[in-house]
Amino acid sequence: MSYLEIKNLEISFPTPKGKYIAVRDINLSIEKGEIISIIGHSGCGKSTIMNAIAGMNTPTGGSVELMGKTIKGPGPDRGIVFQNYSLLPWMSVYQNIYQAVDAVMDCSKKEKQEIVLQNLEMVNLMQHKDKLPGQLSGGMKQRVAIARAFAINPGVLLLDEPFGALDALTKGTMQLELLKLWNLSGRDKTIIMITHDIEEAIFLSDRIVVMNDGPAATIKEIEHVHLARPRNKIEIVKTPEYIELRDRLLHLLTDKFSIEDMGMVYKK
Ligand SMILES: Nc1ncnc2c1ncn2[C@@H]1O[C@H](COP(=O)(O)OP(=O)(O)OP(=O)(O)O)[C@@H](O)[C@H]1O
Ligand SMILES: [Mg+2]
Repeated sequence: MSYLEIKNLEISFPTPKGKYIAVRDINLSIEKGEIISIIGHSGCGKSTIMNAIAGMNTPTGGSVELMGKTIKGPGPDRGIVFQNYSLLPWMSVYQNIYQAVDAVMDCSKKEKQEIVLQNLEMVNLMQHKDKLPGQLSGGMKQRVAIARAFAINPGVLLLDEPFGALDALTKGTMQLELLKLWNLSGRDKTIIMITHDIEEAIFLSDRIVVMNDGPAATIKEIEHVHLARPRNKIEIVKTPEYIELRDRLLHLLTDKFSIEDMGMVYKK
């Protein structure tokens, strides 16, 4: 039995036109400490799967088990950066992180405050700590959500396009912070991340899950990343292993397009 087991997962939603099956037959066994990326076209069901691991979506078939126990709702063992950040609009940046830490950490108020400040520093938001989410840019909101998820130090980090709204430089820094956090945990923290960035997926992951398109999307392929760690972003892109894997992933994501049509026409 693996640390996290997704077994024959199906998730459907009731719609006015009837049941919409978003994903089906999802089977994935994840070991403790693994870094997994999920890639696929918009609307294929990536967030739906992640929300099931978070305990926010109830499976209509199959199950998600963490350490042998079926996930039935959210819990402090899983830290989540949602695609829409989900910050509490009436609380300041500082309070948004503090309330999460306060809810799950068993330590003194002073220690909790220190944890919040450390994480605010990490995402470079110290001078904005008293602002409300409505006063922040998209990238700043995303960084608050990252700080909040990191601050509670969960065994499983669920990251739904966590760096999507960030500029290239900030994104690079945040990727390194993520790896630092993972290394600090003795590479014991399990990270599941959704991304549209193939380079990011290869740089960070042990395995990359490629999704088919929906409705009723399934897993198309699971690719292993065999590049040794620590990985140097500038160096790995020159290696044959990287180039081959990147091309394979690109091919998996674009093979519904006709190459003759230069990817302009959708092939039925
Ligand atoms: N609550 C819901 N009710 C009805 N349909 C839903 C609901 N949530 C998601 N869906 C549908 O399920 C499908 C998958 O959505 P999901 O948000 O998981 O896609 P995604 O792969 O995360 O896309 P993106 O890359 O754009 O974030 C979509 O067709 C979406 O419309
Ligand atoms: Mg999504």
